Amino acid sequence: MQLFEALKRRRAHRNYLPDSVPREAIDKVLYAFSRAPTASNRPYRHVILVDDPRVIKAIHQVHPALLANAPVLLVIFTDVTVATARTGPVGELSSLIDAGAAGENVLLAATALGLGSQFTMISHQAGIRVVLGLPDHCRVDLIMPLGVPVARESSVTSPRSGNTVHHNQFGVTYDLS
Ligand SMILES: Cc1cc2nc3c(=O)[nH]c(=O)nc-3n(C[C@H](O)[C@H](O)[C@H](O)COP(=O)(O)O)c2cc1C
Repeated sequence: MQLFEALKRRRAHRNYLPDSVPREAIDKVLYAFSRAPTASNRPYRHVILVDDPRVIKAIHQVHPALLANAPVLLVIFTDVTVATARTGPVGELSSLIDAGAAGENVLLAATALGLGSQFTMISHQAGIRVVLGLPDHCRVDLIMPLGVPVARESSVTSPRSGNTVHHNQFGVTYDLS
């Protein structure tokens, strides 16, 4: 699928078939994750591939905002100690942007492969650290489901509303063609 077709079709999927995700597709999505930039090009971003149903169940228990019933979860997290040591105090913020960049790569790659995904943010950091055995200096930024969406055919969305494009200065509208 071409990039602009994937951009058009991308959406947040919360309902999935129980079908497993082929290993090849998972690896392609992980490649997309790895191709996202990081501030200062530092290796402080991580991902945990979760496909053990017991771990997925435990994640749902600490993350009620995760409505998706997908067979795979990608947990994108930052080693905040490394991020701030190598990038400075701005690392705490820039690493969140880095996580978002990786998340969008995951979402677009999943779409291009005919799979579904979505962003979710977890508020219960202590709980997810226990579930995944993460040290305190790691912050979970995104938990993204991956699977075969139930309604693939209804994936085409209308153009995004709510985004404003300004021209040279705040308040000067740029009319998109
Ligand atoms: C940073 C971020 C966090 C989000 N967190 C959640 C979440 O916790 N649970 C959820 O169901 N959807 C979550 N979403 C998905 C949005 O609700 C969804 O993207 C939005 O409704 C627009 O729908 P669309 O992606 O299909 O265009 C999140 C999206 C973003 C960008």
